Amino acid sequence: MEKFVVHGPCRLHGTVNISGAKNAAVAILPATLLVNGKCHLENVPDISDIRAYLEILKSLGSKITYISKNEMIIDNTNIGSAIASYDLTSKFRASYYLLGSLLGRFDNVQISLPGGCNLGARPIDQHIKVLEKLGAEVKVMHGNVYAKRANKLKGVPIFLDVVSVGATINAILACTLADGITIIENVAKEPHVVDVANFLNSMGAKIKGAGTDVLKITGVESLKQNSSYMVIPDQIEAGTFMVAAVVTRGDVIINNCIPKHMEPITAKLIEAGATVVEDGSTIHVSMDKRPLPITVKTMPYPGFPTDMQPQMCILQVLASGSSMIVENIWESRFQYTDELSKMGANISAHGNTAVINGIDKLYGSPVTSHDLRAGAAMIIAGLVAEGYTDVYSIEHILRGYENIADKFNNLGANIQYIKEGN
Ligand code: EPU
Repeated sequence: MEKFVVHGPCRLHGTVNISGAKNAAVAILPATLLVNGKCHLENVPDISDIRAYLEILKSLGSKITYISKNEMIIDNTNIGSAIASYDLTSKFRASYYLLGSLLGRFDNVQISLPGGCNLGARPIDQHIKVLEKLGAEVKVMHGNVYAKRANKLKGVPIFLDVVSVGATINAILACTLADGITIIENVAKEPHVVDVANFLNSMGAKIKGAGTDVLKITGVESLKQNSSYMVIPDQIEAGTFMVAAVVTRGDVIINNCIPKHMEPITAKLIEAGATVVEDGSTIHVSMDKRPLPITVKTMPYPGFPTDMQPQMCILQVLASGSSMIVENIWESRFQYTDELSKMGANISAHGNTAVINGIDKLYGSPVTSHDLRAGAAMIIAGLVAEGYTDVYSIEHILRGYENIADKFNNLGANIQYIKEGN
């Protein structure tokens, strides 16, 4: 069993470099399947979700040549199959992008129903709706998703019922090589959606409107090979370090981030009393007092990201008054609050709302990472707590954060990685 032991309390200070964005990279890797040739990718985060995705690509026939752990050439000339292994694809959510990308090149595609963090119901009806509108036949049976097309997919007007990152990216992937023009309304505007469109456009795709509510995609015959692309920095990793800097009353420079992407998080930190100064691709975050209470309502971008909700909750736990969270994206994202209660937090969560009565101290305790972002929150809680905090189920954290313990330790934290037993 693996765990992190976080020795607190500490004050973070120094500089941290942000890695490439997980949620952009897990879409760009399957997007490479649309190219009958090679793509060169840089700033790919070295995390377990990416390693798992690269295994899927290899199982389909991709050849991966590493230049460094974050840079690689992916050669998809010899993709022989569009039947992805159940074992490989059932482990995580973003395997659903294989549906859109492989349907660009193949008539029959099979993946497992996607897994991923347990955040409540995670339907894929909008993904299926998009593919069916474009002319594919999609069936969900025996834990698998089967998609087939008799002819090339064909562009049509599409209106998404909910703003979905995954369905928007799957639509972009499926329409890139389709016949004709697709207009998709009510799409997601997250930075990683824009990054996937930029990646495909850099190879000759015709995707307009990424970052707005409406996408216009004109299908092209093929994409150029031998392109080179750098994945954007991870908004959520940067936000995680920003919150950690504030709650430890630290002074941290966040390097290699895009301040524009951080605005919903920056605004809340300033409201809580922190000093946040942007300069090019860095953000300087400092705090010298107890945070003020704040209300957080999660929304699609440019609203406050749900994937920062558990981390921001640590700030609210330590605030000088009562705070509130309204979770508008996932139905079950408050499981982690029970873990924080073990450390002394005073949180009452019901339905999609949590009320947090601020306290001035947390105490170390054994805690579990219920999901990726909840795990990051447990580490932040451990950094401020008196004594040591054993953080279990860290495989969730390692799915999405590159070298998280080393990065915190370089800022003055004391986090040990321990592997117990076999
Ligand atoms: N939804 C539907 N039908 C669909 C798809 C989504 O009803 O077909 C609903 C969901 O139930 C949810 C809302 O729409 O209520 C938004 O879901 P979305 O599709 O945007 O989520 P996702 O694409 O499955 C991505 C990230 C998540 C992040 C969400 C929201 C990836 C691989 N995952 O998930 O990231 O929470 O967007 O921003 O990009 C994480 O990184 O820790 C993580 C969970």
